[in-house]
Amino acid sequence: MANQLLAGKRGIITGALDENSIAWKVAQKCKEQGATFTLTNAPVAMRMGAINKLAEECGTKIFPADATVVEDLEKLYKDSVDYLGGKIDFVLHSIGMSPNVRKGKPYTDLNYDWYNKTLDISAGSFHKLIQSAHKLDLVNEGGSFVGLTYIASQRIFPDYGDMADAKSMLESIARGWGYHYGKSHKVRVNTISQSPTKTTAGSGVGGFDAFYTYADQMSPLGNASADACADYCVFMFSDLSRMITMQNLYHDGGFSNMGIAPQIVEKFIAE
Ligand code: NAI
Repeated sequence: MANQLLAGKRGIITGALDENSIAWKVAQKCKEQGATFTLTNAPVAMRMGAINKLAEECGTKIFPADATVVEDLEKLYKDSVDYLGGKIDFVLHSIGMSPNVRKGKPYTDLNYDWYNKTLDISAGSFHKLIQSAHKLDLVNEGGSFVGLTYIASQRIFPDYGDMADAKSMLESIARGWGYHYGKSHKVRVNTISQSPTKTTAGSGVGGFDAFYTYADQMSPLGNASADACADYCVFMFSDLSRMITMQNLYHDGGFSNMGIAPQIVEKFIAE
């Protein structure tokens, strides 16, 4: 594995809640590759305390911010730039939550106040995170934003509920801002479409274990782990990916291009 791919780069990493979080692994890999960065999460998540352990391990500071509140995000950028000693080169958006999914409301019976929350927390926050940086001009030329998404944005996975709509919006925002920020500052914006992964957000989706196993068997390489996702994020933050922007990038062991897998068909033959 190449070393020091992120030497001299400064970043902001959202969404590390506990050791299972994809963002947690991303932080560890960014540190390994020579980056300096700050960590952030919603004030309510901070109370759980685990993120302090990560900050200590990475030798950095946490700046709490609710990603739906623009003032919080502007403060996050200013504090991060002050603390890191210069403008930002990469930002990870690793934020998702649906009150409807969490409270078992199916797509056919949504609570619309919660629906607005789902869209704001899981997708609108990506727009706000990018727009705040753009307005303050606190990201360097060639900088890279990555948001994490799931294939339910483009194919139907009924139990994913209103999060599917949020992920479609997230991917669209990557294209929108990818164009505008690319033209104005050569900053890149992409989404990574990750395999099902055993985390707090992932396991909140009904039938998660079944669709984790199904995806694993459908994918020629098996499910991509959080660790492998973190490697992909490092690549996307590095200069090696400098001409990649406005893309939704599948990181799923091949799942997205499969039709059917003999392993799964055999189960029906056996019945
Ligand atoms: P996670 O539960 O560890 O991370 C979600 C994070 O969002 C938490 O740290 C939570 O505190 C944060 N968050 C929620 N509301 C917030 C707010 N208002 N402001 C700031 N932060 C807030 O779970 P995971 O799986 O690591 O999720 C990270 C991202 O990866 C999410 O966007 C998720 O949808 C995406 N993803 C996850 C997959 C999975 O199967 N676990 C598959 C594909 C994508």
